[in-house]
Amino acid sequence: MSKLVVIDHPLVQHKMAMLRDKELGTKDFRELVNEITMFLGYEVTRDLPMKEVEIETPLVKSKQNVIAGKKLAIAPILRAGLGMVDGMLLLMPAAKVGHIGMFRDEETLQPQEYFFKMPQDIEEREVIVVDPMLATGGSVIMAIDSLVKRNVKPENIKFVCLVAAPEGVKALQDAYPEVDIFTGALDEKLNEDGYILPGLGDAGDRLFGTL
Ligand code: PRP
Ligand code: URA
Repeated sequence: MSKLVVIDHPLVQHKMAMLRDKELGTKDFRELVNEITMFLGYEVTRDLPMKEVEIETPLVKSKQNVIAGKKLAIAPILRAGLGMVDGMLLLMPAAKVGHIGMFRDEETLQPQEYFFKMPQDIEEREVIVVDPMLATGGSVIMAIDSLVKRNVKPENIKFVCLVAAPEGVKALQDAYPEVDIFTGALDEKLNEDGYILPGLGDAGDRLFGTL
């Protein structure tokens, strides 16, 4: 079974509380999404492989550990996932970025894919899928289906979100038990319209000012 990591560091909880506030404007919402993403990215990269190198301090020669140079890709689910890309790239500047365009039909809540463009060697990379909201789980499951069709192994995929509903966590774990989930908060439940409670509203609309 995959790991569910709720990153409840005090700084994340503080910033999440600010992010949920309906009075927060677009500019501050965007900035906070990026800041929180950096904290989540710090956790998601915790098990990156390391290698030993010899360096020379001003005093002595010393063996130290550096990142072994794993090939990474960030895969935002459009639109809202775009808001998390810069935060991830600050931590992993050499990562490639692939885009997955997806929207939920408001009546059926079923996701529809409208765009898919990945780095050419995507099957050789560890892929970090990002989307602020895990609600029913339909969008991320369809995004991972598309990656798997392009020969990415589920065990090489991680999913990072800001807010997760228990319903979405269960659906994703049932569909892809190999995919670890990292979230800034595990909320209570979905409402009858498929929105997360307490949640933060429509993440895409709040990021891009299309409310
Ligand atoms: C939101 C969100 C996720 C999806 C989550 O996107 O960013 O992609 O809903 O819901 P699910 O887990 O039930 O699939 P939306 O469809 O509103 O598109 P947008 O990002 O373009 O606003
Ligand atoms: N998508 C969002 O943007 N917010 C929710 O609460 C659920 C899905």
